[in-house]
Amino acid sequence: MREKILELLRQAGGSYLSGEEIAKTLGVSRTAVWKHIRDLKKQGYGIISQSRSGYALREVPDHMIREEIMHGLGTQCIGRDIRCFEQVGSTNTVAKELAETGAPEGTVVVAEQQGAGRGRLERHFFSPYGRGIWFSFILRPEFLPQEAPKCTLMAAVAVAMAMEEFDMKPGIKWPNDILYEGRKIVGILTEMSAEMEQIRHIIIGIGINVNIREDEFPEDIRDRAASLLMVKGAPVPRIAFFQAVLRALDRLYGEVCQSGFAPVMDAWRAYNITLGHDVHVIGVRGGETFDGKAVDIDAEGALLVDTPQGRKRVLAGDVSVRTPEQKQ
Ligand code: BTN
Repeated sequence: MREKILELLRQAGGSYLSGEEIAKTLGVSRTAVWKHIRDLKKQGYGIISQSRSGYALREVPDHMIREEIMHGLGTQCIGRDIRCFEQVGSTNTVAKELAETGAPEGTVVVAEQQGAGRGRLERHFFSPYGRGIWFSFILRPEFLPQEAPKCTLMAAVAVAMAMEEFDMKPGIKWPNDILYEGRKIVGILTEMSAEMEQIRHIIIGIGINVNIREDEFPEDIRDRAASLLMVKGAPVPRIAFFQAVLRALDRLYGEVCQSGFAPVMDAWRAYNITLGHDVHVIGVRGGETFDGKAVDIDAEGALLVDTPQGRKRVLAGDVSVRTPEQKQ
């Protein structure tokens, strides 16, 4: 009922609707309408009431509310169900639990805050209340498990596309960090449950620093982190930006399922700021540490680096792009 009342108020486009009209249209009492309006106001909706004219919707909250995110979203798969939380440990963990109990592909989990946000290589991910978009979604693709790492590239491309829609110029550092002036704005963590030949589910977790001021980042990451607010110099509406990301993910995933990853990889190349540069690769899980020049990504999304000892292939690792000063 609350959703229906909200929809009527939206359709009125900011003009007044009387309590009686709403009650009649929806077949409920005026008291019931009044109670729902009171609850909507509590949720942060800017609804003004006037005794003679009725109710008018003047402002919607920039809060992770399911109805707001789904309103006009229009995606086929990603966001077919959205679960919103005030606080969780990690949205990846919640999404994983949902996936294991049968939640369908495209289910999204989003939280205002994560108490135990997880990054790659078991790092902590800073996710303060109300300032970012901390979310995960479930995929159940038919392709082989070896293809899964490319989902991370797909996710990075989707966020980059959303940034462009909001007039920002994104750069992707291999494999999936979105940077602004060398500082990280977005992190992506992909986790998979699979058998040899079949994926059970993939959880893609994306953390976007939206309205975090520079001085709000913890000191240990302050010189390496940035936010959309810092790029734009003004707050960015989280719901609208989130919808842009979900739509881009939906489009790209649809393409991947139809015709494979080649178009995503091309889009990734167009946004990347790693290829063509000298890089320092720090090996993880027993991998080597070395310097070289990043030349391409291969069909599996691995980074190809030319070194004096020949071409090396990096599937996991920490890569930093070396500036001319660092090379001296
Ligand atoms: C990284 O840069 O190392 C990856 C960071 C991924 C963070 C996101 S926030 C939403 C989701 N939940 C998590 O615990 N992690 C991912």
